[in-house]
Amino acid sequence: MRGYVKRVTQKAEKLSKEQILSLLETMVDENESLYSVLESLSTGLLIIDNNFKLLRFNTIVESWLPFSERLEDIQGNENPVWEYIEDEDIAAFLKKCMENNITNSSEDFSIVTSGGSVRFLTITISPLVNDGELNGKVILVRDITEKRNQDVLLHRMENLANLTNLAAGMAHEIKNPLGAISIHIQLIQKALEKARENEDKLPAKKFVEDHIDVVNEEIEHLNKLVMDFLLAVRPIKAQLELKDPDKLINGLVEFFKPEFNKSGIKVEFHESGSGKKIMLDEKLFRDVIMNISQNALAALKTKYQGQEGGLFTISDKIEGNKFILTIADNGCGMSEETLAKIFEPYYTTKANGTGLGMTMVYKIVKEFSGEIFVDSKEGEGTVFAISFPIPQKDAKLLQ
Ligand SMILES: Nc1ncnc2c1ncn2[C@@H]1O[C@H](COP(=O)(O)OP(=O)(O)OP(=O)(O)O)[C@@H](O)[C@H]1O
Ligand SMILES: [Mg+2]
Repeated sequence: MRGYVKRVTQKAEKLSKEQILSLLETMVDENESLYSVLESLSTGLLIIDNNFKLLRFNTIVESWLPFSERLEDIQGNENPVWEYIEDEDIAAFLKKCMENNITNSSEDFSIVTSGGSVRFLTITISPLVNDGELNGKVILVRDITEKRNQDVLLHRMENLANLTNLAAGMAHEIKNPLGAISIHIQLIQKALEKARENEDKLPAKKFVEDHIDVVNEEIEHLNKLVMDFLLAVRPIKAQLELKDPDKLINGLVEFFKPEFNKSGIKVEFHESGSGKKIMLDEKLFRDVIMNISQNALAALKTKYQGQEGGLFTISDKIEGNKFILTIADNGCGMSEETLAKIFEPYYTTKANGTGLGMTMVYKIVKEFSGEIFVDSKEGEGTVFAISFPIPQKDAKLLQ
């Protein structure tokens, strides 16, 4: 139809009055149908010309984006469209994309509506191409609030399922130490009864002390279980701050290095040296590194048993918008079964382990929308690769 109208208008001077009227009618019809298509879209639309002026829009966009004036009044105005948007982040995003001619770019934003609820929007900038030429931009605004809420709900349900597993695991884990405590107390009781029968002579001091030692050990084990359980189930409250990760890792390495060196294990830290700061929670970041390094220390001690040759390495780098941490040890490594179960709550191969350390690490990394990968070969060693996205703009909203 567009081609037809164009061809006919080029010969406008040769057309009769009736023909011109009919052409006008066709154009009005076409315009109306285009208008109704725009209005029936569930995506908000702003069409901008090369001078960033608003050419066209649909009504829905007006209820989603906060404009300082009615769009009808902005249409055709000289000022660039972002100047009428009352959200600083969105205005800055549009300005940056338009002025630098960035197209096919998308970003998520959150807006507090006048009613006080939060709305999540995805804004996409696409090129407006006409006759093969770039004539402006199309700004598409999609409301992703419902999807976002569903994601949060799913996330919560996943957490609840994890919690159920964790509670079941905890109940199971508690049984053994409780059983042991009960047996040792019974033994002491029996000895006391026997002593009473034998004219109040007390049982041997060493006998009682040995049993009490076991009871104390088991109580300590229970205590660790409960503490770790609480850590694992407590929702993670992140205190995000702009920090230099190299500086934090350096501090941690200095802290645990003596313990490694004492067992003849070398520690190396290859820092990115970028000096770039990223948004992170210092305490949670510390938990991740400490859990992994303590496991590495145990694996290295198992393999080298005080002999030289053990090496623990931490390297970090910034790649695009990701902070990547690699932590490696050349310790005893893991069997395929352990590798498959390493993040499962209560999975441990250690006599006194709770098996919650790596569960915590996994939880923290996921909470920050990060990824964690582990590779290990029995007898050779283990490598963890962890990536955190930067900046974590949305993390604040999901807390
Ligand atoms: N670097 C590593 N090398 C070899 N095995 C590892 C390493 N890291 C973890 N593992 C294995 O994964 C298991 C689970 O680790 P996790 O930290 O969750 O629990 P744990 O260390 O056993 O207990 P806890 O952390 O409470 O002391 C460990 O028991 C161990 O078998
Ligand atoms: Mg551990």
